[in-house]
Amino acid sequence: MTVDPENYKAILATQFEDFNIGLRYGQLSPLLGSSVFTLDGEGWKHTRAMLRPQFAREQVAHVKALEPHIQILAKHIRANKGRTFDIQELIFKLTIDTATEFLFDHSVNSLCDERIGMTQSNDVRAGAEFCNALSEAQRYTGSRAFAHSFYWLVDSKKFRENVGKVHEFANFYVNKALNLTPEELDKKSESGYYVIYEMAKNTRDPTLIRDQLLSILLAGRDTTASLTSFLFYELGRNPDIWEKLKAEIYENFGRGSPEDIESITFESLKKCDYLKWTINEGLRLYPTVPNNYRVAKKDTTLPRGGGKDGQSPIFVPKGTTVAFRVYTTHRLKEYYGEDALVFRPERWADLKKLGWAYIPFLGGPRTCLGQQFALTEIGYIFVRMAQMFPKLRLDDDGTYPPKKLINVIMQAFKGVPVQMDEE
Ligand code: HEM
Repeated sequence: MTVDPENYKAILATQFEDFNIGLRYGQLSPLLGSSVFTLDGEGWKHTRAMLRPQFAREQVAHVKALEPHIQILAKHIRANKGRTFDIQELIFKLTIDTATEFLFDHSVNSLCDERIGMTQSNDVRAGAEFCNALSEAQRYTGSRAFAHSFYWLVDSKKFRENVGKVHEFANFYVNKALNLTPEELDKKSESGYYVIYEMAKNTRDPTLIRDQLLSILLAGRDTTASLTSFLFYELGRNPDIWEKLKAEIYENFGRGSPEDIESITFESLKKCDYLKWTINEGLRLYPTVPNNYRVAKKDTTLPRGGGKDGQSPIFVPKGTTVAFRVYTTHRLKEYYGEDALVFRPERWADLKKLGWAYIPFLGGPRTCLGQQFALTEIGYIFVRMAQMFPKLRLDDDGTYPPKKLINVIMQAFKGVPVQMDEE
């Protein structure tokens, strides 16, 4: 096990070719097939190269698609006026709604429910079935990863049924996209940005498309939702930070008139320093992929861990699992100072050369593909929340730090109980 940034650099970048992702294929492939997230070697290179253009700057810039979903989220918040409610539950729904739209050109609209007086259409009911099957399949898949080399023991008819339902939903939209003519595909691209159509222009293989779409969904949805929820948690218990963040938001984006909303773009979000620092600080204390590992493909060495003081290179025999804990590194005083455990966005004004001591998205050739996408979506959510609901207060039992639930992705164990209001 290591928490040393020098070792991170070696495993993830300088000695990338000496390591692989171990048993991930066996653990995750029932749900995610052969995809960017499950493959190693040439297969991984091929899928990564195919997906890379989907995350280029122009694509990520499509923040406008978020607004209709934010409006539905706002209805829930208004319906809870004066009451304490779990914002984490709503944010998980928001991110599956936005992600399914971006990936499949079909949002499951899980936020549209009776609580805000929206009756469920058949379409929404089908979406809900997909969401339930996905979360069950994901739970199993997380346990398979946790069981490590005994992953094959974690299996059941129910698991396979849920995987079947998830695949059925995805297949439906993939086949629909593959039935479009090249002209129709071009037209779809003009109307907005949807990964499914861009992929259908490049390959006619439905399983390949489905596996990549589901991989992006799994990689991007819970990670973004968890981080956003932890940020609500910290902002709700730190009124000074929330005030400062709001001041920057109002200065740059106004109070939420239609023109103000138009001005929220990929570029303008990037210019807001305090927003950036706040998100960085969230990713530091709550890296939503807290633990990870790689396996040595051959006899090799790592730069730290050997010798009497552990500062010399160490031999790593072929087949060794090297586990690493980003969560711990992000909280070490030697990199972040005496107040390393305090949520303080201002520290990012001075933190310049952290290198591999800050890797919420990892780094090297296998770095997160959706980093800019996530930062843009999270920035957009907080700008709109500050504009619509300036009042935010955490209403929990005061236990700090919050309890976490880790099932590959880390989330707040007891949800994030808040009160929010317009004035
Ligand atoms: C706060 C949000 C996010 C965090 C903290 C995060 C973190 C990570 C980390 C740590 C990995 C590396 C996993 C590994 O190889 O062991 C990863 C990979 C990946 N992420 Fe993200 N992610 C986030 C959001 C997203 C989003 C929004 C998307 C897509 C829309 C996305 C797409 C991917 C993909 C496709 C990979 C696999 C890359 C590869 O193996 O080549 N992520 N992410």
